[in-house]
Amino acid sequence: MSTHLLGRQEFGNPANAGNSLSRAEAQLLLNDWVKNERLKLHMKQVAYLMKQWAIEKLGMDDTQAWHWEMAGLLHDADWDQWPDRHCSLIIEELEKRNVDPGIIHAIASHGPSYFGVEPQSPMDKMLYAFDELSGLIHAYSLMRPEGYAGMELKGVKKRLKEKAFAANVNREDIQDACRRAGLETDELIQFIINHQGQVV
Ligand SMILES: [Fe+2]
Repeated sequence: MSTHLLGRQEFGNPANAGNSLSRAEAQLLLNDWVKNERLKLHMKQVAYLMKQWAIEKLGMDDTQAWHWEMAGLLHDADWDQWPDRHCSLIIEELEKRNVDPGIIHAIASHGPSYFGVEPQSPMDKMLYAFDELSGLIHAYSLMRPEGYAGMELKGVKKRLKEKAFAANVNREDIQDACRRAGLETDELIQFIINHQGQVV
């Protein structure tokens, strides 16, 4: 992914705090903008990880967990058709639809070295942390005859060290994201192994 500095640090309108798209609206936007099934699956996987993290690790209610899920579901929505304008277009779209600034900020900061926006909230940090690692673990599942079944932490760690494996997954970003989130990479990997296979 090349650098697309967003050139601003403020996203959305504070007056829209608490607003989100409905599940149906978010799904429609996803299907409308993203034709690439593989990318769509990636976004659904990250969405599920975000939701489950919010519920299981942070004890959030359904409304808060949906905000986390929605950030995951739409974070790459403009990547398929307009890679040169990633992620400006989805940000502008969600601003137009009066979405909570927290959700928009999470999307804007999911790649600080690309977009020039620092992850601040726990939602921001987890979206950044899940994004690349989820992709690497999915790539690993595709080369295993059993997919996610029986996948082990040590297998993922081995792939993580092999630079040629899923070479487009930025290892430095993974380290950086875990450090910012204050999490051990192992914990994050194990969480993804435990959940990601449920998304089809
Ligand atoms: Fe992504």
